[in-house]
Amino acid sequence: MVDIHCHILSGVDDGPDNYMIFKEMANRAVSEGITRLFATPHHLNGKYENKKIDVLKYVDLFNGYLKKENIPLVILPGQELRIHREIFHTIEKDEVLTLGNQNKYLLLELPSGEVPDYTLEVVYELLLKGITPIIVHPERNRGLLSDNNLLYELVQEGALTQLTAGSMIGQFGKKVKSFSEKIIEHHLSHFIASDAHNVHTRGFCLQSAYERIANLYGIHQTYYFKENAELLINGQHIITQKPLPIRKKIFGLFYS
Ligand SMILES: [Fe+2]
Repeated sequence: MVDIHCHILSGVDDGPDNYMIFKEMANRAVSEGITRLFATPHHLNGKYENKKIDVLKYVDLFNGYLKKENIPLVILPGQELRIHREIFHTIEKDEVLTLGNQNKYLLLELPSGEVPDYTLEVVYELLLKGITPIIVHPERNRGLLSDNNLLYELVQEGALTQLTAGSMIGQFGKKVKSFSEKIIEHHLSHFIASDAHNVHTRGFCLQSAYERIANLYGIHQTYYFKENAELLINGQHIITQKPLPIRKKIFGLFYS
């Protein structure tokens, strides 16, 4: 199994505090059936800066540790980039690290409280550059929660999205859980990932999330997510389902 979003590199961002927790996280990942994972440290989220050159260096270093410890896990390079107005300037400066450094897919984070008014434009411009943005944890964004159709517009534009495993099993509350389900039902998500930060409060939970998805929607839905994550390893085209607008239910009737 492949995890496309997690914070496993100790001492780099808000992931594990020390090497022992890194090792524990790596062992947990293996016990969940994860063989490869993208380490995606935060970049420009207001607190952490992890430029491409640094992440590549850390990933090599930590893969060396895994070999030394005989842990059968491979870390691939990535980054969780916070959207900002000067994003294309940041790309020009070669600070941005796409998944696997392949210039195909980029994990893009929105601020948790809103959807900036330039988001659609950024998605459009990235696509023009041949980079497909994957909007991470849309289910936890308050702007998208209050206006569900903003997410439909972004996906229609060509953005992909990734739900957090913990959201599917209620770790972020009922609202986030039910919005996650709505997102899947309207074909507005393409990946499930752990966004793991540690082993206790923010662990991997991928197995439980996939079990929940299989129970709700059938095993084929889990294959869809799992296969898409695998396809990112080599920057291949992923499978998409036709996005559906989320209609509001008012007084028992549906409105667009
Ligand atoms: Fe993250």
